[in-house]
Amino acid sequence: MHPLEELRERALAQIASAADERALEAVRVQFLGRQGSVSQWGETMKTLPKEQKPIVGKLLNEVRQAITAAIEQRVEYFRAERESAAVASIDISLPGTQHERGSLHPLTQMLDRAIGIFRRMGFALAEGPDVETEWHCFDALNTPPDHPARNEQDTFFLPDGRVLRTHTSTVQIRSMESQRPPIRVIAPGAAFRRDEVDATHSAQFHQIEGLYVDEDVSVADLKGALEFFLHELFGADAAIRFRPHFFPFTEPSFEIDVKSKALKAGEKWIEVAGCGMVHPAVFEAVDKSRGDDAYNPEKWSGYAFGLGMDRLAMILFDVPDIRFFAQNDLRFLRQFA
Ligand code: DAH
Repeated sequence: MHPLEELRERALAQIASAADERALEAVRVQFLGRQGSVSQWGETMKTLPKEQKPIVGKLLNEVRQAITAAIEQRVEYFRAERESAAVASIDISLPGTQHERGSLHPLTQMLDRAIGIFRRMGFALAEGPDVETEWHCFDALNTPPDHPARNEQDTFFLPDGRVLRTHTSTVQIRSMESQRPPIRVIAPGAAFRRDEVDATHSAQFHQIEGLYVDEDVSVADLKGALEFFLHELFGADAAIRFRPHFFPFTEPSFEIDVKSKALKAGEKWIEVAGCGMVHPAVFEAVDKSRGDDAYNPEKWSGYAFGLGMDRLAMILFDVPDIRFFAQNDLRFLRQFA
């Protein structure tokens, strides 16, 4: 056997028995490193007689390739072993990680339904800020300074004199300030009052405001629109009642009650909204703010309404306590998934 072949056999045996990657690296350096035996044979080559050079050269190449390939194989073997060791600690028969699917909050579901119905009647969406000026919340809505709603006991006042809006009616004013009639908008949103919190009162609640201004709008239009809305929501056989009431910003004004056997409340009338014909003083306040007569009450008339969204959702989904909407208890929320 040529010494080079012996060298190869020795190298292959050491590679095969290298216990880990570090031992293998030592073997590699020993045979293929710059000072390694294979490289040294390269030097030896130069001293050989001319006719032997090609034969030994060829052998040397084969030996180098054989050792290189064996080392690569062994490296691959170690890598595979490391990987399967890592995977071995994973039990692939265990169930996977469950990804829970969320669902819409009941108030959001209620809102989507309401918006859908008003959309079909041609209402556009409008919005305004939760933090409002007293002017938008009260004065422009014909509510005098001595009105009880403007009391610090009933309304959250900010140090700068602004308020958390006590109703969404503020958006009536903002919509009319920013666009000319005719106008047909709904404005869903939060409202805030310093109420004693109980099963039916919350410091934050939600309303859908509506405003329709055009020529020759009548109470019949108001009744038609709201009866349509409530029948869509509660079913065609729900009874609806308009009861005379007072609001400073409408004249005449009404409260609306609903009664339906299909609902838990059964034979009881439940109040769901306030509404009425826009008071001329409101149009005048808007014109004053706009600096024109776009809403001249001689030419334009309109109706407005405010629906209690939490109330509607409580009736529709049979929820006994308004506080459930804000508590984020999954046992409650999952019932609407
Ligand atoms: N803003 C009233 C409230 O919060 C509800 C209301 C009554 C809104 C009559 C209106 C309306 O637009 O015309 O109790």
